[in-house]
Amino acid sequence: MEGLAILCLLWAAAALGAAATEIAAEAHPPPVTNFSISVKNLCTIHWQWSPPEGVNATCNLWYDSHLGEDQEISLNNFRVEEVALNERICLQVRTQCSVTSTNASDAVEMCTAPPEGDPESAVTRLQCIWYNLSQMNCTWLPGKKAPSDTNYTLYYWYSTLEKSLQCTNYYTEGLLIGCSFDLLKEKVSSFGKIQIMVTDTAGTIRPSYNITFLNSVKPDHPIITALAFQNDSLYVEWESPENFENNCLVYQVEVTDSKAEFYGAEESKSQCHISQMPQELPGNSKDKNCLVISNVERDTLYTVRVRAKASKYCFEDRDLWSVWSPEKSIGQKPDPTFYTITLLSIPVAISISTLLLLLYLKRLKIIIFPPIPDPGKIFKEMFGDQNDDTLHWKKYDICEKQIKEETDSVVLVENLKKTSQ
Ligand SMILES: *[C@@H]1O[C@H](CO)[C@@H](O)[C@H](O)[C@H]1NC(C)=O
Ligand SMILES: *[C@@H]1O[C@H](CO)[C@@H](O)[C@H](O)[C@H]1NC(C)=O
Ligand SMILES: *[C@@H]1O[C@H](CO)[C@@H](O)[C@H](O)[C@H]1NC(C)=O
Repeated sequence: MEGLAILCLLWAAAALGAAATEIAAEAHPPPVTNFSISVKNLCTIHWQWSPPEGVNATCNLWYDSHLGEDQEISLNNFRVEEVALNERICLQVRTQCSVTSTNASDAVEMCTAPPEGDPESAVTRLQCIWYNLSQMNCTWLPGKKAPSDTNYTLYYWYSTLEKSLQCTNYYTEGLLIGCSFDLLKEKVSSFGKIQIMVTDTAGTIRPSYNITFLNSVKPDHPIITALAFQNDSLYVEWESPENFENNCLVYQVEVTDSKAEFYGAEESKSQCHISQMPQELPGNSKDKNCLVISNVERDTLYTVRVRAKASKYCFEDRDLWSVWSPEKSIGQKPDPTFYTITLLSIPVAISISTLLLLLYLKRLKIIIFPPIPDPGKIFKEMFGDQNDDTLHWKKYDICEKQIKEETDSVVLVENLKKTSQ
């Protein structure tokens, strides 16, 4: 019995020994060495390290790297990431002897230098929107502590450029400052990224970085090519904005009736069938889309406009609607300016005609009823006015009489002659 117990113990010891060597092979490998960092382009960070020395031959080295929450386990002794360098960016690397091992080395950390300058001098709300798959528009607000005469410069880089370029077309939009540059879809890989840095020529503000994914785009507006009544429905047809492939856009059609009330907006991504096109429309190679709105009244004026956004089947849907297309109207109601003019001109016309009528009636009255001679008036005209004059003259006469009697009669005769004329 004792011999068996000893044997068992020996076996157990042997088993333990084997396990111990296995653990030793799995046990914490040394950390990486020669850890270095470099930044290329505007914000492409390259981390690189060398394998630790004195690693057990049975250990197949894997590197577990953490960039914040983002973990990567790889056999590569480097890691490349595009990160907006607005703050210190750190990568921690551990070594381990298998992918799934829980025994990793101590972490070694390597960080970028934070951008230089007062954080409050850096531009804020830096964002870029890709328009029409052909142009990038970036805007920002000046930092709180940035001098008011700061001359901003924007640099950009994407994968097919050898080195970063400087944006040249600066503009202001209210408080926003912006710059736009060409970015044709042919030049960039789909779903690529573009690195942006905004700084100033004098180097006094802290640079700001942004990485914009080319996975969302704001289209140019569509153009309404036809608007027609078809029985009791309204046929709207429009042309897709340029540059987009079939079925990569959705549309919104807004119809307003003459009472300026919102009639409805409908989303549509249906392609037009040739059979739906009215006869008078010549065939066109451009993409046509259409919508038929039923139950419309022909004695109403309808105003229609259309806008587009990139479809979620081709791009990330960030609700970047295009501006509305130019409006088109159809219907019979006179337009409101005509109404206003009419409404304004009615009272004016009435007053003018009343005035003319009054004048006409006055003339008519004169012809039909010639003024009845008024003896009193005539007498007054003959004598009354004269009386006044004679009175005057009389006074004068009286004075004259008193002064020089002889000329008096002569004056009176002249006076009478004057009145009879
Ligand atoms: C450290 O890395 C550099 C390249 O990053 C390499 O040239 C050098 O040989 C490395 N040194 C060691 C000791 O591995
Ligand atoms: C949209 O892009 C095309 C070519 O890429 C260009 O011809 C057109 O002018 C652009 N439209 C606008 C509004 O920029
Ligand atoms: C910005 O540019 C203008 C004109 O080129 C110059 O007069 C001004 O001093 C510049 N401002 C700064 C802060 O360099």
